[in-house]
Amino acid sequence: MVRYRRFIVDGLLKRGARRLSYDWSSLPPPEIPQRRVVVTGLGLVTPLGAGVQVSWDRLIALKTGVQALSAESLRLKDPGLLQQLPSRVAALVPRGSAAGDFDVEKWLNSTSPAFIAYAQCAAEEALTDANWHPQDAADLERTGVAIGGGIGSINDILEAAHLINKKELRRLTPFFVPRILINMAAGHVSIRHGFKGPNHAVVTACASGAHSLGDAARMVKFGDADVMVAGGTESSIDPLSMAGFCRARALSTKFNDNPTHSSRPFDQARDGFVMGEGAGVVVLEEYQHALNRGAKIYAEIRGYGMSGDAHHITQPSQEGRGAYLAMSRALQQAGLQPTDVDYINAHATSTPLGDVVEARAIRDVFKDHAHSGRLALSSTKGATGHLLGAAGAVEAIFCVLALHHGISPPTLNLEQPDPIFDGHFCPLKASKSMNIRAVLTNSFGFGGTNAALVFTAPPVS
Ligand SMILES: *[C@@H]1O[C@H](CO)[C@@H](O)[C@H](O)[C@H]1NC(C)=O
Repeated sequence: MVRYRRFIVDGLLKRGARRLSYDWSSLPPPEIPQRRVVVTGLGLVTPLGAGVQVSWDRLIALKTGVQALSAESLRLKDPGLLQQLPSRVAALVPRGSAAGDFDVEKWLNSTSPAFIAYAQCAAEEALTDANWHPQDAADLERTGVAIGGGIGSINDILEAAHLINKKELRRLTPFFVPRILINMAAGHVSIRHGFKGPNHAVVTACASGAHSLGDAARMVKFGDADVMVAGGTESSIDPLSMAGFCRARALSTKFNDNPTHSSRPFDQARDGFVMGEGAGVVVLEEYQHALNRGAKIYAEIRGYGMSGDAHHITQPSQEGRGAYLAMSRALQQAGLQPTDVDYINAHATSTPLGDVVEARAIRDVFKDHAHSGRLALSSTKGATGHLLGAAGAVEAIFCVLALHHGISPPTLNLEQPDPIFDGHFCPLKASKSMNIRAVLTNSFGFGGTNAALVFTAPPVS
């Protein structure tokens, strides 16, 4: 049957070959607009708090979002199960009704599990910040959403598995599928606000957040939309995800009795990453569109570099070629020299291998500038843990805030820098009153996928 069909197709192609070819030279070339894209709104839900201001203030004040993991926070009926997890620390979003807490009553419900709810909350903050609440059909159709994630709602899958074991499949919620799909975060945001532009969701593990911003910026550049609500979201602090990352030997296990010290990027004693959760969402906008409506402009998104390691399922390649390519491509696209960059937010997750490889790649790209004392480098994961699919977006926002405030955020717990880093370019505390003109942020994911973003101070109009 298959062979028969192939025969027919081949035959058609042969006979129709002349008709299939066409002289396109008589037509104008496809139009590829090159528009500038700026950031006009920010929204955050992080382990440091729900909101941009509270997350940033606590980050600069050397606070941490990392805590001991309890059986209760994992919703384990049998507390003994907790002891089966070698890693018992996590960076949880503070939930409650105090200022800076995530309001569960307002955002969680039968159709919105945590990863969707975090994205909704961060998107709302970003849109309010950007003062973008269009009512016109044309504006709504020119506004899109691109929110990615790493895993989706594993907890729902876990609970559904209990129903299988108990032979109670009829009790499965009709919202099971729309609760677990990663693109439902972007779907919900578009439904809530009526945005009919592109609706997209990147899934590139821990690079999802960075790829989302990069892809969304391209959509604006290319003319698919004038405004994009872009970001990443994650809520995978559940027993199954914890067990999975433990089995992959990715998580910190030596600091269960001293949780606040467990996430320590670039430090000699680092022993794995700490699971985090949350969301970061920005409003990206075509430059002239932002000027015309008098929007506040935080930064220009200027460079987006991507690469693949083509090396290993979970480990980075030793010499850091993938990271090198992502960074140099982002700089090239931005039209910048390495010496133009004043701050790097490293991907560094606090794993023994990953941090070394990234530091090496940074040295290869930035050469002497990396040791000049003029390039500030930090990993904010010391305070937030690793937010997986949200990390790239959250860290892009920290970069934009670094640019905006002239402050480079600290690397928490970096007490004894690994000698390979020379101790030159890792601030232990926030450096204030810096002149920050350009920033770069890295994100790398399982599968060997890499993304780097470059932001610069707003264009002078
Ligand atoms: C659930 O909450 C989301 C916000 O996270 C909201 O957009 C949605 O309308 C709510 N759905 C229901 C059924 O209440």
